[in-house]
Amino acid sequence: MPTVIATISLKGGVGKTTLTAGVAEFLAGVFGKRVLLVDLDAQTNLTTMMIGAEAWLECNQDRRTVATLFADALDGTTDFDLDRAIARDVSPVADVDGIDLLPSSLDLIELQEELSARRVAADDHAEAIGLLRKALAPIVDRYDHILIDCPPNVGPFSLNGLAMADAYIIPTIPDVLSTYAIPHVQRQVADFGAEIGRSIVELGVVISKYRPSSALHQETVRRLRRDPTIHNVLPIYLHEANVIGAAAEYAPWPTLHAKYGYHGHYEQFRDLTRAILVEADGKLG
Ligand SMILES: Nc1ncnc2c1ncn2[C@@H]1O[C@H](COP(=O)(O)OP(=O)(O)O)[C@@H](O)[C@H]1O
Ligand SMILES: [Mg+2]
Repeated sequence: MPTVIATISLKGGVGKTTLTAGVAEFLAGVFGKRVLLVDLDAQTNLTTMMIGAEAWLECNQDRRTVATLFADALDGTTDFDLDRAIARDVSPVADVDGIDLLPSSLDLIELQEELSARRVAADDHAEAIGLLRKALAPIVDRYDHILIDCPPNVGPFSLNGLAMADAYIIPTIPDVLSTYAIPHVQRQVADFGAEIGRSIVELGVVISKYRPSSALHQETVRRLRRDPTIHNVLPIYLHEANVIGAAAEYAPWPTLHAKYGYHGHYEQFRDLTRAILVEADGKLG
């Protein structure tokens, strides 16, 4: 069985997608893992980072995205074809093999409201949050890790992600507004875990866009580390850097090292990925 990890935060722009994409690339490219990425965010950023805007448009036109899965549930149709929807061997880095992707779609924006309304109807509730888990069940064993990029809310798509997640990570920029909602996310995930009868383990908070020279960033990290409600701040911080920002652009790279550069950011991502593996091993057994 794969380890399923959701990336979740209530704030947008904290580096959630950048982190999910990078960790997938290092899991596959450096640690030899087979990875499935699931993009649940209507922004489709993870999708375009991995396959580019043109290929995404084609998937979207053919309805080979996760939106079709949710639309089926709402409309009573059976258009979602899992094997066609999974994009194989994605990532623009030539020497990275072993990442597949279930692409996202802008159509999720409209579907979210319909699915939220459906969730309120008590008899459909369990079904509405279990759609993703059920749909992916036939293929999960192909992978060592499934990483799920959730939208910046705890709405129906995030709940679908959490319903199949063993664990989650919370990325944050170490500043006042980005860290504000962390306890709220933790509480909502814990409540949801109680509701579905199992705990979804917090692997930790991941510091992103860290500026070592910023007194605010230093102080915020210290505060988070002292905070007893934060179970764990992972020891490797992703620094704010042009090469990490540029990773958002779909462009061909020969190697991961070429993509993340030669000024320490390759090592940050690699060591962070290792830290996540260690946490998952320790906490999930
Ligand atoms: N460590 C970093 N250094 C520089 N830019 C970053 C870094 N992490 C993310 N970015 C940029 O910040 C923006 C928001 O990041 P993104 O991963 O899309 O956040 P989220 O998914 O939380 O909305 C993007 O333009 C991304 O390229
Ligand atoms: Mg994002």
